[in-house]
Amino acid sequence: MLVDQAEKLRLMVRQTKKTAHILAVTSGKGGVGKSNISANLAICLTAAGKSVLLIDADLGLANLDVLLNVRARYNLSHVIAGKRSIEQIVQNAPGGVRLICGASGLSDLADLTPFQRQRIVQELTALEHQADFIIIDTGAGISSGVLSFCEAADQTLVVTTPEPPSITDAYAVIKRLAQGHSGTKISLLVNMAPNRSEARKVYQRLAQTAAKFISTVVYDAGYVLRDEHVPEAVNQSEPLVLAYPRCPAGYCFLALAGKLGRVSEPANVKSGFFHRVMNWFY
Ligand SMILES: Nc1ncnc2c1ncn2[C@@H]1O[C@H](COP(=O)(O)OP(=O)(O)O)[C@@H](O)[C@H]1O
Ligand SMILES: [Mg+2]
Repeated sequence: MLVDQAEKLRLMVRQTKKTAHILAVTSGKGGVGKSNISANLAICLTAAGKSVLLIDADLGLANLDVLLNVRARYNLSHVIAGKRSIEQIVQNAPGGVRLICGASGLSDLADLTPFQRQRIVQELTALEHQADFIIIDTGAGISSGVLSFCEAADQTLVVTTPEPPSITDAYAVIKRLAQGHSGTKISLLVNMAPNRSEARKVYQRLAQTAAKFISTVVYDAGYVLRDEHVPEAVNQSEPLVLAYPRCPAGYCFLALAGKLGRVSEPANVKSGFFHRVMNWFY
């Protein structure tokens, strides 16, 4: 009996101690590679022994299920409607990743009623203690729903391509995030880079501008090379790092996972991530 109780306590302590590192993946412009990055990064981190939960929070254009070839009967909209619990909609995805599918068609988290938001936050809070990493694939742009996820995350990965319009829009997101004073660590990832030195130029220019004009540190998350294997894998509905693990972009994802996997700072334990999301609205 006593042994039973001690075991229960130990389990409780273990469960409450573990708090996931939350990474939001966002961008100014759409189509820059957020979903591919989220999915492949999740698989690489899982391969490195981390437990990873991937959430498709692009409420306008949810497509991680297609990318990962997962057929989802239920998604976040069923949780919002109170028809399913969050535990019931977690799906097993390739590479050992657990996936929560998005709700295409919902335009914005901010459009939900306070009651609906409360429900989704409460449901998601339970998941914070069940993973080492939670990766959130957000929509593009500076809508309040997207920003709320980023501001509540430990780290926000802002994705840009080397094209000027994409860089300009990434800067606008960074500026908004900086104004929020949320404390989320902002990192820049240059996707579809022709080579390392072009990627570095994009990073340096943007980081210098942010330091000079908005006194904000933008960390360097590195780059992913432009690689035709990426659209090929997309067409095959198979994640790149599983379909073509040794292609140039595949190595970039491994390097990115290595960088992020070393994150050691303790996650915010005082108030859970999803409560911070909630607070953002008030
Ligand atoms: N590194 C890359 N090299 C070549 N094509 C890429 C790369 N990353 C993404 N793509 C292509 O860009 C398109 C958009 O990617 P996606 O991940 O859906 O973007 P987002 O989620 O930002 O809208 C996809 O069709 C994909 O094949
Ligand atoms: Mg996407």
